[in-house]
Amino acid sequence: MIKNIFYLIVQVFFLILPSKEAWCMDETDLGVPHKSSKIQRTSKQEELRWGLTEDKIDSLFENPKDLVCILEVGGNFKRLNQLWMHLLGWEGYKIIEVPYIHFVHPEDIEKTIEYENNFASIGLINRFLCKDGSYHWLDWTKLFHTRGNTARGEREQHLSIARDITREKTLEMEIEREKQARNLAEAKNSAKSYFLAYMSHELRTNITEIIGILDLTDDRSLPQEEAANYLKIIKQSGEALLKLTNAILDISKIEAGQFNLESIKFNPVSVAQEVNQLLSFEARKKGIELRLTTAPHLPFYVMGDPTQLRQILLNLASNAIKFTNQGSVLISLTALNDDDHFILKGEVKDTGIGMSMETQESLFQPFTQADASMVRRFGGTGLGLFITKKLCNLMGGDISVSSEVQKGSTFHFHVRLAHPIE
Ligand SMILES: Nc1ncnc2c1ncn2[C@@H]1O[C@H](COP(=O)(O)OP(=O)(O)O)[C@@H](O)[C@H]1O
Ligand SMILES: [Mg+2]
Repeated sequence: MIKNIFYLIVQVFFLILPSKEAWCMDETDLGVPHKSSKIQRTSKQEELRWGLTEDKIDSLFENPKDLVCILEVGGNFKRLNQLWMHLLGWEGYKIIEVPYIHFVHPEDIEKTIEYENNFASIGLINRFLCKDGSYHWLDWTKLFHTRGNTARGEREQHLSIARDITREKTLEMEIEREKQARNLAEAKNSAKSYFLAYMSHELRTNITEIIGILDLTDDRSLPQEEAANYLKIIKQSGEALLKLTNAILDISKIEAGQFNLESIKFNPVSVAQEVNQLLSFEARKKGIELRLTTAPHLPFYVMGDPTQLRQILLNLASNAIKFTNQGSVLISLTALNDDDHFILKGEVKDTGIGMSMETQESLFQPFTQADASMVRRFGGTGLGLFITKKLCNLMGGDISVSSEVQKGSTFHFHVRLAHPIE
């Protein structure tokens, strides 16, 4: 008797258990075949599951404006309305046979899973794959989330509607892109105005100084020693003017894309030795040690522009000497080989005044002397590192700095050169 009752319970249990097809859509939705008796039975279950009448659920799926679906959390679509096919181009495709997450844009998967799993999350914007490979932006609203009958092995499900907001999103992104382009253009413009103002100021200061001193030397009764001193100041101002105009000329050539790099055979170690020799007097005068180390595996000859490599090393090493009062400046060269090129890596390390994080961040912009008093104390144009970076970039490389205030700075750079053709 007890055995018979047990079999009866088991039979009833299997009668109400939903099968895979039972949750499929009806023919008008996807063209996936189904047995109408099962749809009937499943609808009753939907009623139970969602607490809505069968009519109410059906009318939700007849909504012509929104994408409506029932999703199995971590699984597939269980039911979709016709709009999914029209809008996203999946006409005739058995979209419910593929885990639905496969259609979600890789960058949106994480937040989609969070939306799916979390009872509390009711909204989501993600990108959904269309048949033509493009993505549509969907704005999701979760209407119901049920745990399902875990005893029967059912997964959680939710009933959601999604609205296609691709047009709005595209417009929004276009506006954002335009805004960014405008900001960039404005920033470039104001950097140019700043550059022009600073440059004119520097030029005027030096010219005014030269004219002023010349007026003073006009006095015939001037003692010779004083006159000689004035001439020395005129020379210094003239040299500063020449430095500045050369730098401006270099920058405008680089900016206009007219900076032509040479490609000739040269010895990189000789270039570094020349720089070392050129600056050794200045270093000795300040009582600091200037050293050069070159890796033994450096090739004897490479193809490239020796003048610009010299310029890079000279800029970095003269800065290092200028901003170091005791200790040493070390220039070193090593190399990396890749298949067609050879990458020359350089380092200029000093034990000088160092610089703050803030200075380091704006270091490769034009006119970035740490502060105005630096110019008075150390001189310079504030254009050296800007040009150095541009030169490294032109030679297929880059430059960076690491520094600590009162401890010193290390500039690292690399440039791409070629092996000479035998
Ligand atoms: N080795 C260094 N140690 C400390 N500060 C440095 C060093 N190199 C550059 N700087 C800082 O960066 C600024 C810009 O350098 P640069 O572009 O070469 O211009 P300039 O040498 O004409 O001042 C310097 O004025 C200085 O404040
Ligand atoms: Mg400099």
